[in-house]
Amino acid sequence: MEIVVDILKQLNIVPVPLLDGQAQVVRARALLEANREGVFHALAESPDGMTSAELAEKLGFAPDGAKVLLRALNSMGYLRERGGRYSNGRWVRRWILDPKRGLHYMLRLQLYTYHRLEGLGQNLKTGRPTMDFHAMDAANPTPQQETYTRAMREAARLIIPDLLKRAAVPPKVERMLDIGGAHGEYSRAFVNRFAGLKAKMIDLAGPVATAAKIMEEEGNPEGLELAVGDALRDDFGKNWDLVLLANMVHLFNTEQNVDMFKRCRAALKPGGSLLVMDQFTGLGRRRDHIFAVISLNFFNVGGKAYDVSEMNAMLREAGFDKVQSKPFSLRTPGALIQAWA
Ligand SMILES: C[S@@+](CC[C@H](N)C(=O)[O-])C[C@H]1O[C@@H](n2cnc3c(N)ncnc32)[C@H](O)[C@@H]1O
Repeated sequence: MEIVVDILKQLNIVPVPLLDGQAQVVRARALLEANREGVFHALAESPDGMTSAELAEKLGFAPDGAKVLLRALNSMGYLRERGGRYSNGRWVRRWILDPKRGLHYMLRLQLYTYHRLEGLGQNLKTGRPTMDFHAMDAANPTPQQETYTRAMREAARLIIPDLLKRAAVPPKVERMLDIGGAHGEYSRAFVNRFAGLKAKMIDLAGPVATAAKIMEEEGNPEGLELAVGDALRDDFGKNWDLVLLANMVHLFNTEQNVDMFKRCRAALKPGGSLLVMDQFTGLGRRRDHIFAVISLNFFNVGGKAYDVSEMNAMLREAGFDKVQSKPFSLRTPGALIQAWA
């Protein structure tokens, strides 16, 4: 169905702005509300599926509300309907409910993103971001902050296999610093991959508190060290084999990034490397199309999706002479830029 719509859009015979400006908003909202209200989990608990009346009863929807929502989700391809009974489709099973790939928190986070982007018009005019990350610097994270950190963890799980594949890491590495490491998932993956590696992650107080909570829930077999720190100001110490900046540079402006890169370079051992993982443009037309849109979201929090040429210029200004870009496979959002001290 989506392919047909795409073809009709390309042929310019459907009212594209109506699809993008109205239908997309309603579709997104239907998905986010269903996820927030537990529709997919409720359906997963009913092996024979549920009627709209049963779902309404279970989750406290108005009968007509449940009916219209289930029909919409069915037409969007998220549910299946047989004889008036609805069950989860394969996208829900794989991308929302699967413990390894599920994006439940990511969808919850988009409810906040939706709200934040109300400020986009103002942000585009003034150039000032709608959100200040330093609001996260509170030891007791709000539900929104905790959702953010757990959502980033879900995204990390999708990215880690490509990152591990593309990063050129010598067999013997001992110390890794994960700046803005939040949930700690990247550090965990590196420690599990490279025997003898120890990792420390720093972040603002809120995400560190959430990371500590995750460790309480699941343990910390990798012995990760957590610390509150400020990527925009701190001295990062010395003698790290690896410094990771995953999804960080898109939050900051050029000046902030150059300054951060200089402090990363000073913190690396000679021959150690900086791994910058993010969503970059300049690595192919398909990726550029996606990131041109995502960049608006980054601009709304103070940064943008940088072009690889801008990244190279910033890293060279910070003193890195050897820099390589390594795009991920098309199904993984992002790319790695590795720079050696
Ligand atoms: C987009 S998330 C990325 C998290 C994680 N690195 C990942 O890729 O999943 C950005 C992270 O940067 C952290 N952050 C933002 N500003 C920061 C600062 N000035 N110092 C330290 N961490 C910061 C946020 O708290 C958040 O955890």
